Order: sequence, then C-alpha cells, then structure tokens
Amino acid sequence: MSLHDDVEEILLDSQTVATRVAELGAQLSADYAGRDPVLVSVLKGALVFLADLMRAMDLPSSIDLMEVSSYAGTETSGQVRILKDLSKPIEGRDVIVVEDIIDTGLTLNYLLGYLADRQPASIKICCLLDKPARRLADIPIDYIGFTIPDRFVIGYGLDYEERYRNLPYIGVLKPSVYGGARPEG
Ligand code: IMP
Ligand code: MG
Repeated sequence: MSLHDDVEEILLDSQTVATRVAELGAQLSADYAGRDPVLVSVLKGALVFLADLMRAMDLPSSIDLMEVSSYAGTETSGQVRILKDLSKPIEGRDVIVVEDIIDTGLTLNYLLGYLADRQPASIKICCLLDKPARRLADIPIDYIGFTIPDRFVIGYGLDYEERYRNLPYIGVLKPSVYGGARPEG
C-alpha cells in the first residue's frame, strides 16, 4: 500500500513543476532586481512551493508565514480566520504573496485586504496553480505557474484532509478515496 495508489492521474510531474518553478524564480529575480521583497506565504499548502521558489530566486529576499483557515474538511465556508499572523511589519515593503492554488479566490481576496491595510509599498501575487473554473472573487494574479482544470488535486504541498502533501508531483485523487462527492476545494 503506497500513497501513489490513491492517485488517479498525474497532472504535473515533478520535473515539469521544477522547470516551471525555476522559470518563476528567474522572472521574479529580474522583476525585483535591486529590491528586497518579502515573500508572504500561506500555510500549509504553499510550503513546498515556497521552499523551492525561494531557492530559485537570486535576491536578498525574506519570508514570512501566515496561516488562515477557510475550509472545514474540503468545503468552502467563505469564512477566513487568521490562525497565525505576520511576524514582522510589512509597511513600506514589496510583498509577494506566494500561494499554492487559487480556486474560489475567497481566501486570497480576504488576505489581500488584510495585507493592504498594513501599507506595504507593493503587493503582487505568485501562485503555483490557478483553477479559474470556480472563481468567485476577481483577483489579479501576477505570476501563475499553471492553469489547471476543475479537478481536486493533491501533492507538492496540497492535501486532502492533511494527507498527500508529500507527494512529489501534482495528481488527481481517486474518487474512491473520498467516497462519492468530489471535495469542494
Ligand atoms: P480558495 O479560497 O477557494 O481560493 O481556496 C484556496 C485554498 O483551498 C487553497 O490554498 C487550498 O488550501 C485549498 N484548495 C483549493 N483547491 C484545492 C485542490 O484542488 N486541492 C487541495 N486543496 C485545494
Ligand atoms: Mg492553502
């Protein structure tokens, strides 16, 4: 029995992800040359992406981590609660929000308002996966790794009920794992 047995299909293999993350890192390094941005990431899904992206950036950047909860199980509640706040002020800083996936956009929509209130010099969004099919909040995404179809994906940081984050690729979960109704995420 292996984690891989629960995967219906590999959507993006690890080499494809690595290549794209390297491209994003190079693009950010060029766009932010001479500046010192802070990468603000949202736990826990973005952790793996952040770890790879920051090493693909040749800049004197720093990181900060937030944790918000918007989902109970896999259902979107539209409610965002801050479980862990920024550890340092971002006033006057160039903020790059690093996200794993933007689905409805409700989480990020809330977060953007929250960050903007703290008067950073700029805010841009870098997300690994864009799932536009179920978007409810209109969000300007500056950097996108991949646009994906409306399927529930796991791996490379993304979970189903806290599992599968450590899969090295991005895959589609077998329906038999969640027993019928597709997760909302
Ligand atoms: P949004 O508020 O609907 O954009 O949700 C964003 C969050 O929902 C992401 O940061 C993920 O934690 C979770 N999520 C959305 N879609 C998926 C998915 O396909 N797989 C796993 N988690 C997902
Ligand atoms: Mg997340």
